[in-house]
Amino acid sequence: MAIRMYDLIEKKKRGLPLTKEELFQMIGAYVDGNIPDYQMSAWLMAVYFNSMTDREIFDLTEAMALSGDTVDLSVFGDRSVDKHSTGGVGDKTTLIVAPIVAACGGIVAKMSGRGLGHTGGTVDKLESFEGFHTTLSPEQFIAQVQKCGLAVIGQSGNLAPADKKLYALRDVTATVDSIPLIASSIMSKKLAAGTRSIVLDVKCGSGAFMRERADAEKLAEMMVKIGVSHGRKVAAVITDMNRPLGYAVGNLLEVCEAVEVLKGGGPLDLREVCLTLASVMVSFSCKCDIKTARLQAEDVLQSGKALEYFCEWISLQGGNAAHARDPHSLGCAKYSLDILSETEGYITGCNAELIGTAAMLLGAGREKADDVIDPKAGIILLKKTGDHVKKGDILARLYTERENTLEVSKTTFLKALSFGIAKPEEAPLIYKIIGI
Ligand code: URA
Repeated sequence: MAIRMYDLIEKKKRGLPLTKEELFQMIGAYVDGNIPDYQMSAWLMAVYFNSMTDREIFDLTEAMALSGDTVDLSVFGDRSVDKHSTGGVGDKTTLIVAPIVAACGGIVAKMSGRGLGHTGGTVDKLESFEGFHTTLSPEQFIAQVQKCGLAVIGQSGNLAPADKKLYALRDVTATVDSIPLIASSIMSKKLAAGTRSIVLDVKCGSGAFMRERADAEKLAEMMVKIGVSHGRKVAAVITDMNRPLGYAVGNLLEVCEAVEVLKGGGPLDLREVCLTLASVMVSFSCKCDIKTARLQAEDVLQSGKALEYFCEWISLQGGNAAHARDPHSLGCAKYSLDILSETEGYITGCNAELIGTAAMLLGAGREKADDVIDPKAGIILLKKTGDHVKKGDILARLYTERENTLEVSKTTFLKALSFGIAKPEEAPLIYKIIGI
């Protein structure tokens, strides 16, 4: 029997659970254009206030995952693994983690997105390499994973179309920040993308969707439960996003920093988050315990094997291997500006969202989905939370091709920092791992 959307809104308004059949019919009808946005908005707002049962969330996720194409990775048995970050500033972990896992013998079949607002996206970072393309056919995707253990594609047009439509609606109806809706949105795409295991990097703090640790834990637990209820192996690593990860924010700048880590150096916070994520992925894909996985991950990083996989990956997807080995050779933005400290003291806080916004204003990100990215734009931080600064010390260096963005970006950047006389306590980098 066909559903009446009015009845489903009424049911959710009263806090009653919808059945699996109702959810499947609702999602199908919405994708087909048979439910107007105003009714779906009312239902989303009812979910925002009344939440959903676990069973409803599992069913909603499944309905969204099956609303379009799904990727068949059965050729890899139960060894394929994907990683997903809920979004952060300076988050270049995929560039490092994917080749580490492949170099350890893992199977990384990854679907990545673009950045929006203050957060960056892996596809944009990879496109800093001229010629790099993320539109592979399913056959090319599988062949590349078979050849070098990893491939990254952009989100295909018809993957979880229900989520695409719902997310756009949530964005304009103030219903993004709902744990059932975020969890079902992310996991519907991950289920449709087909890997047998999924490692989630759930960011927590000023630059993340989830500002509070308790909310980040709830979201992480829910996503793990959704994956497990659909027969996938899922772990979630809750990591700090109260400061950017590493020192570079902006596409090519982040690629350069990622390569430093792959060469055995780079910032310690970035290296540690990458090794933690990679260890979980290796343990899932290579079927070993987490300690063995960690040792292998450290080994391929130190020996340069992960860097070799990175260079091969970039060249297989159309980039230049020499640039991959030395991305600084791609050059630097035309304009730069040093931001000097006007204060003496410790940096006690560093609002990651504002730093991401300052980088976006320089051209490193998009305010609207159709804005054009400038790969060379961004920020190199020279000081971070906990560092002591004197008046006149360089706090950060801004880079852009659009000179007129420098001042507004500087003003935004300066709002991100707070100073004090006492050294702040060091915040943890990794709060918790769920699902291993
Ligand atoms: N990322 C998604 O894909 N969906 C959300 O709802 C939030 C973040």
